[in-house]
Amino acid sequence: MSNKVVINADVSKGTINKNIYGHFAEHLGRCIYEGFWVGEDSEIPNTNGIRSDVVEALKNIDIPLLRWPGGCFADEYHWKDGIGPREDRKRMVNTHWGGVIENNHFGTHEFYMLCEMLGAEPYINGNVGSGTVQEMSEWVEYMTFDGESPMANWRKENGKEEPWSLKYFGVGNENWGCGGNMRPQYYADLYRQFQTYVRNYGDNKIYRIAGGANVNDYNWTEVLMREAAHLMDGLSLHYYVHPGGFWNKGPATGFTEDVWDITMEKTYYIEELIEKHGTIMDKYDPEKRIGMIIDEWGAWYDVEPGTNPGFLYQQNTIRDALVAGVSLNIFNNHSDRVHMANIAQTINVIQSMILTDKEKMILTPTYHVFEMYKVHQDAERLDLSIESNQIKVGEKEIAQVSVSSSKANNGTVNVTLCNVDKNDDADVQVDLRGMNLSDISGRIITADELDAHNTFDNPDNVKPVNYTDFQLNGTELSLKLPAKSVVAISIK
Ligand code: AHR
Repeated sequence: MSNKVVINADVSKGTINKNIYGHFAEHLGRCIYEGFWVGEDSEIPNTNGIRSDVVEALKNIDIPLLRWPGGCFADEYHWKDGIGPREDRKRMVNTHWGGVIENNHFGTHEFYMLCEMLGAEPYINGNVGSGTVQEMSEWVEYMTFDGESPMANWRKENGKEEPWSLKYFGVGNENWGCGGNMRPQYYADLYRQFQTYVRNYGDNKIYRIAGGANVNDYNWTEVLMREAAHLMDGLSLHYYVHPGGFWNKGPATGFTEDVWDITMEKTYYIEELIEKHGTIMDKYDPEKRIGMIIDEWGAWYDVEPGTNPGFLYQQNTIRDALVAGVSLNIFNNHSDRVHMANIAQTINVIQSMILTDKEKMILTPTYHVFEMYKVHQDAERLDLSIESNQIKVGEKEIAQVSVSSSKANNGTVNVTLCNVDKNDDADVQVDLRGMNLSDISGRIITADELDAHNTFDNPDNVKPVNYTDFQLNGTELSLKLPAKSVVAISIK
């Protein structure tokens, strides 16, 4: 039976915030060091220590925003260790991630330099768990104060005369867990206190993000919204897909068909989380002023055999392309509340865009989905409805087809569709209402094997190609989506 989609191209549901296509880079494993930062003396081509190849690749997906320095690392990070001459910077142990030496060579100045190269907005996560109000307040002063002050003077001594602009600031991370094991009432009070001293200097206006719930901890959202909604601009939510559960996640490759289905079912679950946390947020914020900030999401598997278990290095397959495609469609379709999302993590960690091996670099299937979907950034979300065939996964059922659609400034309508079925094609009838249909083109990413992926020897095994398996009949577009595929259609 055909899946049915109706798209009302003349009915806008508001703008899809480009920050939904945001990224997260932590001092974890080989994300910052080796991934972004190789140092000025490296033989790997770099600009001021930052790898040129990864910057070029990330610019191609229009990365809007980068969250740094963690994650769990953020609540142990003391920013003053990461400024001044690099040879003098404090060496410390990265206790969360692999117990390796952190030499602090990548700090605030290097992060801003990276964001400038990427054309991305910085999103800095402050330290509540092991930091102080003064430390957080002085970091903001260091970055953004224009004038005479101890921190601004110190910044100038370190070579940055003008203040930077800082828009997004997170007040702690996973405060219910690695960020301090707090109870919601306690964190709500700390949030109120800490954010008071996250000052707006001059014209710099900071969007304050409170630490949100772990997965389905709805009480956390209730307490935070009740106690502190008036003092926040965003409330975070973290959700990872672990096919076998947190303690036995399962491998990134070499998994069974059942595990494919479970991965898809767990991917769709984020929609329930958005709706249920969103309902609580609506109670206190019916205007949807406060953004739901999904600042960590992605598919998290066991590390690759032989690699440091604290480095979270995993391969990335066509399964991850589907995880990304479905998740981004869900975020787009909830763009009234979801104002930002940051996939974890950009390079060499969890569901990465890029994997590196010394001077080599490969783009993952997830990267390609971000590239195919970038047309949705800041576009008008279009009203749509879908009647999808269902796939049974244990006791549950999931939709075979996921879809979202938007209209760009130039009038082009873009539709992104996923067929999560591991074996069967999906026939889709799309009724395109309210637009003139003339020039239609498409791209697809798909593969035969469940765990098809790119390697350093075969970097283009999984990548988008032209898609032509569609027919237009009046205003009805008939598509055949192969099993395990993500398709992007563009209608000019
Ligand atoms: O992304 C890896 C870790 O997952 C982050 O540091 C933490 O916030 C989350 O638990």
